[in-house]
Amino acid sequence: MLTLALSKGRIFDETLPLLQRAGLSVLEDPETSRKLILPTNRADLRVVLVRASDVPTYVQYGGADLGVVGLDVLLEHDAAWGHAGGAAGLYQPVDLGIARCRLSVAVRADFDYPAAVRQGSRIRVATKYVQLARQHFADKGVHVDLIKLYGSMELAPLTGLADAIVDLVSTGNTLKANNLVEVERVIDISARLVVNPASLKLERETLRPVIEALAAASRGSA
Ligand code: ATP
Ligand code: PRP
Repeated sequence: MLTLALSKGRIFDETLPLLQRAGLSVLEDPETSRKLILPTNRADLRVVLVRASDVPTYVQYGGADLGVVGLDVLLEHDAAWGHAGGAAGLYQPVDLGIARCRLSVAVRADFDYPAAVRQGSRIRVATKYVQLARQHFADKGVHVDLIKLYGSMELAPLTGLADAIVDLVSTGNTLKANNLVEVERVIDISARLVVNPASLKLERETLRPVIEALAAASRGSA
């Protein structure tokens, strides 16, 4: 039995068409079902629903054989594990090209960001991505005080909690609606397929074709 870890919402919704193109369908809708394990049209494949940030952990420890996760979450997970440059024991065979966005620095429109990041200065940054933000500002030689948040990052500069945020941007509508401006792009993001290396060895015959079918499906949607 192969187990695929997905998170509810955007990742599930955008992975579904890829699965479909690979001949795979999930037999229950996570928005209406309370189940966390969903059957598929294949008796040897099931989907488990986990928090987006838990997907790498499930796949790393073999709770799932493969998963779909945003590069933002994956890199943050790696950095937390001290695996800079190499996923924490995770094989990453495919950029699925879905859930595309970017991780960016944003500030209030009236905040002088260039002055604030001059060498030797100190800036207060709120983010869910503390590892990636720390790395970004370290590379720029900017001293940073990081404040970890779990959501509604846009509120931080508006309330004086922080000077800047590091958050995901897609259309830019959320920033605009909150009078914030994007001042720096940290990294382009898309969702990746991640695979447990032990599963790849032990379940190679069933896993390989699934990986290849998803890779082909993602090329079709690129
Ligand atoms: P959790 O519920 O665990 O906090 P989450 O709310 O971050 O997770 P989603 O909002 O579904 O989960 O985002 C999942 C992934 O989709 C993110 O990790 C990111 O890679 C991508 N993503 C997030 N926001 C956008 C967006 N506005 N446009 C495109 N992709 C996005
Ligand atoms: C993400 C992210 C931003 C927003 C950016 O949140 O944390 O707040 O999307 O997208 P935008 O640039 O297109 O406005 P969330 O997943 O809550 O977004 P959503 O609910 O708007 O899809």
